[in-house]
Amino acid sequence: MTAQLVDPFARAITYLRVSVTDRCDFRCVYCMAEHMDFLPKAELLSLEELDRLCSAFIGLGVRKLRITGGEPLVRRGIMTFFEAMGRHLESGALDELTLTTNGSQLRRFARDLAARGVRRVNVSLDTLDERRFAEITRWGRFAQVIDGIDAAVEAGLRVKINTVALKGVNDDEIHDLVAWCGARGHDLTFIEVMPMGDLGNENRLDQYYSLRSLRADLETRWTLTDTSDRTGGPARYVRVAETGGRVGFITPLTHNFCESCNRVRVTCTGQLYMCLGQEDDADLRAILRAHPGDDAALVEAIRAAIARKPKGHDFDYSRQTVAGQVSRHMSHTGG
Ligand code: GTP
Ligand code: 5AD
Ligand code: SF4
Repeated sequence: MTAQLVDPFARAITYLRVSVTDRCDFRCVYCMAEHMDFLPKAELLSLEELDRLCSAFIGLGVRKLRITGGEPLVRRGIMTFFEAMGRHLESGALDELTLTTNGSQLRRFARDLAARGVRRVNVSLDTLDERRFAEITRWGRFAQVIDGIDAAVEAGLRVKINTVALKGVNDDEIHDLVAWCGARGHDLTFIEVMPMGDLGNENRLDQYYSLRSLRADLETRWTLTDTSDRTGGPARYVRVAETGGRVGFITPLTHNFCESCNRVRVTCTGQLYMCLGQEDDADLRAILRAHPGDDAALVEAIRAAIARKPKGHDFDYSRQTVAGQVSRHMSHTGG
């Protein structure tokens, strides 16, 4: 058996996040600029290259694979790739195959995803207000996303809602979101906005809403009990007594969770980032293309990169400045 991936801080790497496209049918204000230049197709990993790459990671002990983007469901032919990854579920090499999506294409794909072994999906939804939804996503249609979520439920998929907490944008809706998700049986995770990519329109400090404050606000209305539940990602969950539902907090700023990091990510162009909040990467596409029939060099490159995984990110909004900003867009790395 091949040795598993363990980084210099003794963290086993068992979770791979792979972005399959930088494109998206939305333009969320905290994620993309209104006018984005997208990559030409030749720059992207092909579906075959994605299969090879993910399979190599699975051979090295990755047990959880999350497909991201951009919006992963706008990548043409993506169900073929899910099908290929579904075989690793069947063989027992992979525990979980899942995706993070804006929900717009779920009506079309939810059943296909379920048939390929996906059991739950994370859907980004920052507001329950239709007009506000249009402002945040610029191009998104609220009704289409809600219909997509319904389709996921109908297909038997569990749904987790991701809400980026934004002061002055959706901080007045957190109770409604808890009630809505609780009533529908969806987990809900709130996320602190991270300083990634130059968006041209931003004031990160003004919009940043710490989840410490958000939790205090929730506790004025709900009874929250800490749990030790983990879903493999960075969220820490509480149980909400009144709804019976779970609410998670993803707190890169107020509580750094890097000490228990188990993950790395690959961009749609095949760059391996050992940390979301750092710039160091490894060009796996070059290796895939230089060694078409042989994965030895690929495996070697992955190991060498993991040996450089940093301790954590340097995101910091304290002292009225934004430190640790990362220049690439979230849509490039896939979160
Ligand atoms: P679960 O499998 O449901 O636990 O999902 P997840 O939280 O791993 O994935 P998701 O795509 O839903 O990510 C939610 C948020 O967590 C996004 O904003 C991600 O960017 C953020 N996130 C995920 N992993 C990391 C990480 O390693 N570091 C940081 N700073 N943020 C992360
Ligand atoms: N900070 C925090 N979360 C973000 N997301 C996108 N951009 C950011 C950001 N700058 C979220 C999306 C999606 C997940 C993958 O990351 O809303 O739910
Ligand atoms: Fe891991 Fe980096 Fe995310 Fe921290 S910021 S949890 S080290 S990927």
